[in-house]
Amino acid sequence: MGPTISLGNDLTVPRLGFGTFQLQGDDAYRGTRTALEVGYRHIDTAQGYDNEAEVGRAIADSDVDRGEVFLTTKIKPSNAAAGDVRSSTEQSLRDLGVDQVDLILLHWPAEKYAPLQETLGAMTVLLEDGLTRAIGVSNFPSAMLEQAFELAPVVTDQVEHHPFLGVDPIEKVLEQRGGFLTAYSPLARGRVTEDATLSEIGEEHGVSAAQVTLRWMLQKPNTVAIPKSGTPERVRANFDVFGFELSDAEMQRIHGLERQQRLIDPDGGPAWD
Ligand SMILES: NC(=O)c1ccc[n+]([C@@H]2O[C@H](COP(=O)([O-])OP(=O)(O)OC[C@H]3O[C@@H](n4cnc5c(N)ncnc54)[C@H](OP(=O)(O)O)[C@@H]3O)[C@@H](O)[C@H]2O)c1
Repeated sequence: MGPTISLGNDLTVPRLGFGTFQLQGDDAYRGTRTALEVGYRHIDTAQGYDNEAEVGRAIADSDVDRGEVFLTTKIKPSNAAAGDVRSSTEQSLRDLGVDQVDLILLHWPAEKYAPLQETLGAMTVLLEDGLTRAIGVSNFPSAMLEQAFELAPVVTDQVEHHPFLGVDPIEKVLEQRGGFLTAYSPLARGRVTEDATLSEIGEEHGVSAAQVTLRWMLQKPNTVAIPKSGTPERVRANFDVFGFELSDAEMQRIHGLERQQRLIDPDGGPAWD
């Protein structure tokens, strides 16, 4: 499982999770099975990934008990109205084949579909009714995240974060409010492998640039990372990051790579910090 973040109330979040975006059908099933076999205990899916059924089946078919897996899904922005929050979550649970998820996130700010207060209110009811064990948001810039914390007991903001994209204002809010950061696209969609500094640090430790990046995430405070791979060897390698440690100087060198390179910025997305 590796290191975890404890949320109190018996809820423990493994800091290295498996992302499933763009894995569909058999690829989603096999990827999730492989991830569980190599030790991941945190799986990230979404209504919008069209793979909840395969992810759920992979968990059910694996040798790992459901109770040992931290399972996250996300509500599509178009399901942000209160009634749709409820009905789409019930559909997600049916598709996943579970009674409850561990965490459910609002996938993107969705004021176009419903006021934030309405969406987070309905998500709080999901929590109270036991459809999920925690709630959170995704792709929220810092001011909107502050608002979310005012409205509901959110625990995380899942945002793009990797060595080339810092998220300091969001990290600051999460630290002040007692939430954790979930870093998506932590490998900058594979671009970290082309970086000379990360490769050089990797050579020092006998590991790859991707492994250095994930280790850096784990040594940062309060951060969860959810790399995706559809390649079994990479799924395995990305979880093999607990046997070495980066020095403070190496952590700083990686921090120095930051250049606000955002890879995911769809039309209609939020105004970022
Ligand atoms: N909340 C959101 O809006 C949001 C947005 C994007 C992503 N996410 C979540 O975050 C997860 C991860 O993000 P991501 O999939 O965008 O990007 P990522 O994990 O940074 O990178 C995935 C890409 O890197 C490649 N890769 C993986 N491991 C590698 C390794 N060890 N060496 C070289 N290349 C490697 C993969 O190729 P192969 O598959 O061919 O191995 C894939 O092309 C998603 O799956 C999803 O769960 C959430």
